[in-house]
Amino acid sequence: MSTEIMMALVMNLLPLLLTAVLVRSDQNMVPLKSFKIYENVTYVCIDIYKQPGLDHPLLQNHTIQMKSSVSKPELNNQFGKNKTYKNKMECPDGTVPILRSSKEYISNAQLFAKKYFHPLSGDSPGTHIAGVRSSNGPYRGVGAWFDGFPLNIERDQASYTQVYIGSGLNNQVNFIQTGYMTNPGVFGDGRLWTYGFWKGKDGKGCYNTACPGFVQVSRDVPIGKPADPEVPDWTRCSIHQDKGTGNWWLTQRISNEAYIDIGYWPKELFDLIGNGANMVGVGGAVQAARSGPSPPMGNGKFPNGDHKGSSLISNIEVLDSNYVQRKMNSFPIEQLLDSPKCYGLKMGKIPPLHVSKLGFFFNYGGPGGNSCGI
Ligand SMILES: *[C@@H]1O[C@H](CO)[C@@H](O)[C@H](O)[C@H]1NC(C)=O
Ligand SMILES: *[C@@H]1O[C@H](CO)[C@@H](O)[C@H](O)[C@H]1NC(C)=O
Ligand SMILES: *[C@@H]1O[C@H](CO)[C@@H](O)[C@H](O)[C@H]1NC(C)=O
Repeated sequence: MSTEIMMALVMNLLPLLLTAVLVRSDQNMVPLKSFKIYENVTYVCIDIYKQPGLDHPLLQNHTIQMKSSVSKPELNNQFGKNKTYKNKMECPDGTVPILRSSKEYISNAQLFAKKYFHPLSGDSPGTHIAGVRSSNGPYRGVGAWFDGFPLNIERDQASYTQVYIGSGLNNQVNFIQTGYMTNPGVFGDGRLWTYGFWKGKDGKGCYNTACPGFVQVSRDVPIGKPADPEVPDWTRCSIHQDKGTGNWWLTQRISNEAYIDIGYWPKELFDLIGNGANMVGVGGAVQAARSGPSPPMGNGKFPNGDHKGSSLISNIEVLDSNYVQRKMNSFPIEQLLDSPKCYGLKMGKIPPLHVSKLGFFFNYGGPGGNSCGI
């Protein structure tokens, strides 16, 4: 081969060689894929085995459960809306979306978790509830359909719609809850967010991924995400214990979309709910500063007897001790309403024709105000 030909070859190959080098160095530091869905709301796709949730000391030897084993009942979509997830994310295979959280968010969330009331404690100042619960466990799960409404919530206030499970023994509690929350003090905005919250063995726990514990498994739907602002989302939220592993799964379904197993809280985190939870409940809750007014709950309107007039929670179902799905009111239930001046609760009564559609349901909510009591 002549020198000229050699040179020509090298010159021709040069761009290729350079490209190869670039690609290699690129692979060494592949930027993590991320989704910015609003200002200050970015999800980063993190290797499922390196997610921060697994940093909990009790999860040192934890094996990730990739799929929930409980079969999911197909409920009719009685609300007729064809809604799809907006801002749909899809992390690459082997990665999961984790909210990029600021130091401020982490410390706010942890502070809030400390003063957070829970459904098993007595009263805490500024907290009001409207809902139902049943304490005839062990239960293996609870789920319900509900909607979320954008509300005006001040920085020192919070408003929730939630389903929860829990057990208490002496001064100790284990519990898990999920639903919608507006909580500017934690999220730094007045948006409606889906969320999960837990408290485990040592009395510790937190929201979403603000501390280790929750194991994210879905590649598309993270625990904790702002709802679409335009349309209230009809969402089914449920928590259930996996029969095989004892882990507590968080499942969500928005309107006609498929059920999504978002992830789970591993059984290692808990010491009182290994064989089910004593108590399950569903309802609205608000929190206010000790001296300030109480925020609105639900859609801000009192139930007026028409199931469309105020916020509705429907198809409330539990998994009994044998993992059989039953209407919650096939067990004894308590109605909870501690501030009837500001909020209301109306158990569902509609013509028999519609009974099968809404299942066991109730309306709840109200405007809040200055004289709700403490
Ligand atoms: C984003 O975060 C910064 C810093 O906390 C804040 O000043 C800003 O108002 C936030 N933006 C939105 C839209 O919430
Ligand atoms: C994990 O396994 C090691 C080795 O068997 C053991 O020493 C350690 O206590 C385990 N950690 C937990 C949190 O179970
Ligand atoms: C929802 O979408 C399905 C499939 O695209 C369609 O058959 C159905 O008519 C739609 N329902 C409504 C209420 O728009």
